[in-house]
Amino acid sequence: MDLLKRLRYAGRFLRKDLVHLNLQILYKCNFTCKICDFWQPRWQGQGMLSLDQTRAIVEKLKPEGPFLISIGGGEPLLHPEILPIARELSRDNLVVMICNGWFMTRETARAIWEAGLYEVSISVDYLDPERHDTHRGRPGAHARALQALKYLHEERVHPHQRTHMISVVMDDNLDDIEPLAQLAAREGYTYLVTFHSTSRGRKEKRAAPAEVGRRLREIQKRNPSFVTLRGYVERFGEADENGEIGPCRAGINLLNVDCNGNVSTCIDRLDDSCGNILEDSFDDIRLQLARRQKESSCGSCWTSCRGPIESLMYGKDRLGNLLDLHRMTKDVPLVRSSP
Ligand SMILES: C[S@@+](CC[C@H](N)C(=O)[O-])C[C@H]1O[C@@H](n2cnc3c(N)ncnc32)[C@H](O)[C@@H]1O
Ligand code: SF4
Ligand code: SF4
Repeated sequence: MDLLKRLRYAGRFLRKDLVHLNLQILYKCNFTCKICDFWQPRWQGQGMLSLDQTRAIVEKLKPEGPFLISIGGGEPLLHPEILPIARELSRDNLVVMICNGWFMTRETARAIWEAGLYEVSISVDYLDPERHDTHRGRPGAHARALQALKYLHEERVHPHQRTHMISVVMDDNLDDIEPLAQLAAREGYTYLVTFHSTSRGRKEKRAAPAEVGRRLREIQKRNPSFVTLRGYVERFGEADENGEIGPCRAGINLLNVDCNGNVSTCIDRLDDSCGNILEDSFDDIRLQLARRQKESSCGSCWTSCRGPIESLMYGKDRLGNLLDLHRMTKDVPLVRSSP
């Protein structure tokens, strides 16, 4: 069954169809990160996607899918129905999640894997706990993130389930990337990066120095735990130098659904609605998304929502990227939990 799901997903990928859905089930968050707006009043007043609404979305997507669904937020573990939602989404789709780690207990980790998720990533942006905590606005955030990674890694129920540490690459943490990849390796997890986006609200520019792509590739060659696709990482410098990477295929290959069911091409274009997945037909939504993509000249971010998909579908070194995808998704033997 799972093999069939993966094969069907691969077919969609080869057809360059809509493959990736970002799902913000809520915006509520217990952190106040410097790089993110979702904790601010504008977002905190918004509701949550209920389990029933999730079921309706799953039904609507069924004839289209499977999709790679990334459960995001806000902080997903603040949703009281996160476990049944994860189970519902996982039935017909390949589901991954990013969390800040704060609420992850051993029991929650086990339940998440039993719900059928493929991958959980925990955000860690600095090696130094104090810097991470200050950046995330919460003392103890670093320690809890590392604890969460440990629980997740140990509580997996299938070898294909993967635990990653993930960092946003900014102007002041480039020297932390290699030690973080090494820290992940020592504990048995793998390491991913995404590039800082200035599109989400008003933010200071935080991109790293222009040679960042080259430096990251060198770090990657030395550290097998660093499994982000090479085609994605290589273009970080370009994103920084030019401020733009186009053309962006958000709307053609990926879409975003927020906690009210509103659809947009990406997480940074939430105000530009392409319909509502709870109310409108998927055919209409698809048309709106394609229209928006055609009209847009936006290339203002190079985050992990768009970069890896574009690298795999349209990038130069397809074979190299496929190899990295294999390293990112291959089975990792289950480990026994330590006390
Ligand atoms: C919006 S968060 C939601 C999940 C969870 N609250 C967390 O922080 O891990 C998803 C991912 O986006 C990253 N992120 C936040 N603001 C960003 C920005 N301005 N540019 C790029 N990535 C960002 C976070 O670090 C996290 O890895
Ligand atoms: S923990 Fe995640 S959602 Fe919350 S403020 Fe930070 S980046 Fe945004
Ligand atoms: S480049 Fe694409 S994914 Fe990024 S903000 Fe623009 S439309 Fe969205």
